[in-house]
Amino acid sequence: MKYRLDRLLTELVPELSRKQAKDAIRAGRVTIDGVRTNDPERKTDPEAEVVALEGRPLAYAQFRYFLLNKPAGVLSATRDKKQKTVLDLISGIDKEKYFPVGRLDIDTEGLLLITNDGALSHELLSPKKHVEKEYIAVCRGILTDDTVAPLRTGVDLGDFTTAPAKVKLLCADATAQTTELSLAITEGKFHQVKRMVAAVGSEVLHLRRIRMGGMSLPQDLKEGEYRELSAEDLRKFREIIGGNE
Ligand code: URA
Repeated sequence: MKYRLDRLLTELVPELSRKQAKDAIRAGRVTIDGVRTNDPERKTDPEAEVVALEGRPLAYAQFRYFLLNKPAGVLSATRDKKQKTVLDLISGIDKEKYFPVGRLDIDTEGLLLITNDGALSHELLSPKKHVEKEYIAVCRGILTDDTVAPLRTGVDLGDFTTAPAKVKLLCADATAQTTELSLAITEGKFHQVKRMVAAVGSEVLHLRRIRMGGMSLPQDLKEGEYRELSAEDLRKFREIIGGNE
């Protein structure tokens, strides 16, 4: 596939803005297969040609994966006229090609994968794969093991009955009258965790996703920060996709 050279350069060197990429090309700092080119609009196929900046060949990865700690207030969408989307938080990517793998509600925080790899996204979201998603939910009221027990077998939400979830009571705050739960579910229906908690008579006050399959949210990744996944991280991810069917 062919790309405009300035666009490609910003993908290969994320620190470069589009303007800086254009300037570098016009200044003759970029070569394609060893031949200097001054045209930022020149079309190039990075899988067939070697693009180099100041003589340094740039590695081209067809697919990239970013693990984002989504903050509240940002939309899990590719574009929106009014609101900031999760793609706005990732620098140096071509926003036409990237998307979040699934959605978190606007007020939900935590782990969200952003990629341009449609096949991986499809696999992760396929109901057949049963990829577990773990959430920490702060819920209204003091919940007991008995209160949350129905979630472990499945609750009727009207349009569907949930599959059994793994539920742990983490801690209760008697002053605030809240309970923190860990919930691991294999489905991903709209507002699912909030609806499940409502079905046992409580309400989610705060929700954060901390794990998707074998991939956990790194503890040192602050809200709004992201990390590009290494080959090793991806290997783990692929293992769990194949393993749970
Ligand atoms: N369940 C919800 O209710 N909201 C989310 O954002 C994710 C899971």
